[in-house]
Amino acid sequence: MNDKVSALLNDQINKEFYSAYLYLDMANFYARKGLDGFANWYEIQAKEEQDHAMLMYQYLHNNGEEVTFETIAKPDKTFETLMDPLKAGLEHEKYVTSLINTIYAAAQEVNDFRTTQFLDWFIKEQGEEEKNSSDLITRMELFGDDARSLYMLNSELAGRAYSAPSLVL
Ligand code: FEO
Repeated sequence: MNDKVSALLNDQINKEFYSAYLYLDMANFYARKGLDGFANWYEIQAKEEQDHAMLMYQYLHNNGEEVTFETIAKPDKTFETLMDPLKAGLEHEKYVTSLINTIYAAAQEVNDFRTTQFLDWFIKEQGEEEKNSSDLITRMELFGDDARSLYMLNSELAGRAYSAPSLVL
């Protein structure tokens, strides 16, 4: 594998684990506020990020590349309102999309079609993640100010169940 592509994928493993950590911090914020449904939603989001990291880890191994783990940064966002994590989440997903796009472009540049094909799943996944984040913001804007509606939204988010990623390596 091209050194740059391999290094970017290795770095992305760390970024995905950071994402998991960031979402866990959001779950932690909502749990402290008594909103267990929002906490559940972000706990599952954190699990999905770990899955993303493990898919990249496995992909590098499958291609004979070495993986090096680096320090995972401390979640650096501060939240005050119930809306803050939702907006931070959308911004973060847009950032992750840009990272995936950068790896994709690097792979394309060296005709590494196996990696672009591997990344196709992540390109689609980022579209879903941005949409989910954006939908949550819309719903909070619509219902967040009313206690009863917020309770119902929280109950709905409590129903989110974890499912393993559809991508199999
Ligand atoms: Fe791994 Fe939320 O993107």
